Amino acid sequence: MIGGIGERMTTHTLELKNLTKKIKGKTIVDDLSFSVREGEIFGLLGPNGAGKTTTIRMIVGLISITDGDVLINGDNLRGNFEKAMERVGAIVENPQLYDYMTGYKNLMQYARIMPDVTKERIDEVIELVDLKYAIHDKVKTYSLGMRQRLGVAQALLHRPNVLILDEPTNGLDPQGIYDLRNYLRLLANNGTSVIVSSHMLAEMQMMCDRVAIIQHGKLVRIDEILNQEDETEVKVHFQIEGDVAQAKQVLLNLNEDLNVTESGQELIVQTADVRFIAELNKQLVLAGVLVVGIQRKTKTLEERFLEMTKKGGDLNEVAVPVNK
Ligand SMILES: Nc1ncnc2c1ncn2[C@@H]1O[C@H](COP(=O)(O)OP(=O)(O)OP(=O)(O)O)[C@@H](O)[C@H]1O
Ligand SMILES: [Mg+2]
Repeated sequence: MIGGIGERMTTHTLELKNLTKKIKGKTIVDDLSFSVREGEIFGLLGPNGAGKTTTIRMIVGLISITDGDVLINGDNLRGNFEKAMERVGAIVENPQLYDYMTGYKNLMQYARIMPDVTKERIDEVIELVDLKYAIHDKVKTYSLGMRQRLGVAQALLHRPNVLILDEPTNGLDPQGIYDLRNYLRLLANNGTSVIVSSHMLAEMQMMCDRVAIIQHGKLVRIDEILNQEDETEVKVHFQIEGDVAQAKQVLLNLNEDLNVTESGQELIVQTADVRFIAELNKQLVLAGVLVVGIQRKTKTLEERFLEMTKKGGDLNEVAVPVNK
């Protein structure tokens, strides 16, 4: 992304500062620090047992904090719990629903214990999660995806600006995941910070703006998920028929600093400027090189994750965003 006009102030809605959980002498969450921005979808990514749910349980006050702090909208959970939780909505593991009631009655029930939830607001959240068609059916007849939608609707009733969903895609079919992604994005675009957890790399890459990778309760690093337009590093594979070394020389003649490597019948060029691809291709063609294929590849989160863990899992290489 191009800077220049001066940095905008970033508002952080959720801040974890050296958050630690020990249970029976075992450290489950280990000195975890990160901040979630207003209007972003932030992922907690880690294998089973990494400490995602334990972290979320601490954030929403379901279990005590051993050490460190959680600040929500600037209010510290310790000492200011009610104020801090005022604008938090969450589903931890499974949504809490009454099976024998209709979806609508469930929302009504919940609305009763929340201040300022109007009938219009109930209709609004039903609309948002697209559950109008089944809202007057009993919850025991709901599919997993429908329960999930109702759970999200319930969590949103009091207009939280921090929404936390533990493994929200669990058990959802591809359509369900697609829909979830869309309405979470809608919420984020309206300023809500959405925190989701998962052990699925590809899913997180599609859903989140940034992802915190957690292993053994520790923050390994935070990855910014880049859109196609924001790519900083693109690998272009040129498939060549004939002499690859000669083709490589053609590209180096154009720019001797070009990052180009040979791999079988392929030339792999690394560039930050995607418009450069056409120019490279033109030069190859003009030099009489037969280009039989061009492929553009962006590094996936998975590749970056694997690359990083291959380095011996350097846990010191932690990129924590600067708090402002
Ligand atoms: N109450 C508890 N007592 C003892 N150990 C616990 C307790 N709660 C969690 N743990 C341990 O803490 C570790 C982290 O568990 P946690 O549920 O936070 O992981 P997770 O990242 O959510 O995993 P998953 O992807 O399976 O949901 C696990 O090793 C688990 O056994
Ligand atoms: Mg979990």
